[in-house]
Formats: sequence, structure tokens, C-alpha cells
Amino acid sequence: MEKKKIIEKVKKIVGKDENRESKLKDICLFLHNELDGYDWIGFYLVEDEELVLGPYVGEPTDHTNIDFGEGVCGQAAERESTFLIDDVKQEDNYLSCSPKVESEIVVPIFKEGEIVGELDIDSHVKSRFSRVDEEVLEEIATTVGKIL
Ligand code: SME
Repeated sequence: MEKKKIIEKVKKIVGKDENRESKLKDICLFLHNELDGYDWIGFYLVEDEELVLGPYVGEPTDHTNIDFGEGVCGQAAERESTFLIDDVKQEDNYLSCSPKVESEIVVPIFKEGEIVGELDIDSHVKSRFSRVDEEVLEEIATTVGKIL
């Protein structure tokens, strides 16, 4: 599916007359079904200066609460920037959620200039995420920021 269509679909989900949790879960399901190698997709929400796991699709993870600075998610939160990891096995500061994971991308979500959450995606394929994935996911994060 092309970039424009993916973003249009996410905007449609965000505009639905549903609660926030359902919308976030629907976005995870949509990305999981539509994009090969998007094996674990989840939202972390900032609460009391930590990242708390929200809706997700994929294997359950032990990492339901992550401090800023801890793991790839915590580093992305601390630096307020996207982290694209081609090979998680090369990372020192990394929290493993499954031995099958090879690459990961974490995109911060902002509301009125403040970080309020993150979109985290794991792949069982090495170097799965390109600059195009990054652009699409950053647009999705901007859209999602409106409902957080
Ligand atoms: N790998 C992440 C933790 C989240 S799990 O992948 C779902 C990290 O290093 O922060």
C-alpha cells in the first residue's frame, strides 16, 4: 500500500466515533495486516515521567513500564527523536521483547510540543525499516498526537 493511502486510512481511524484505546488498537491492527515485517506494533504513553504500554498487537511483552533513557524506547523519549535500529543485536541499551526481533523503529508522539507517547514497531527482519517507513510513521505520529 502506498504512503498516501496508509496515512489516509490512519486519519480515518483517528476520526472514528470510538474511544481512544480502540482507535490506537485499530491503527496497530491496520499496520500489522498491511505491512510485511511489522511484527509487533504498540503505543507507549507518557505517564508520570515513564513510558506505559498502551494498545499493541503482537506477542505480550514484559516491558510494560519503561523509564526515560532505558532501552531504545526510553532513549527515543529522552532525546525526543526517532530511533531506527537496523540490528538490535548490536545495541547495548536495548530491552528485548522476543529473541525473534531483529530490527526496530521508535517514533515519538508530540502534543503541543511535548512528548506524550511513542509508536514502537519491531520486525523479525534485519534492517526492515527505511527512511520511507520513518516518514510515514512520523506522519502517523503527528495524526495520533491530536487524540492523546
Ligand atoms: N525493544 C524496546 C522495548 C519494547 S519491546 O520491544 C515491545 C526497547 O529497547 O526499548
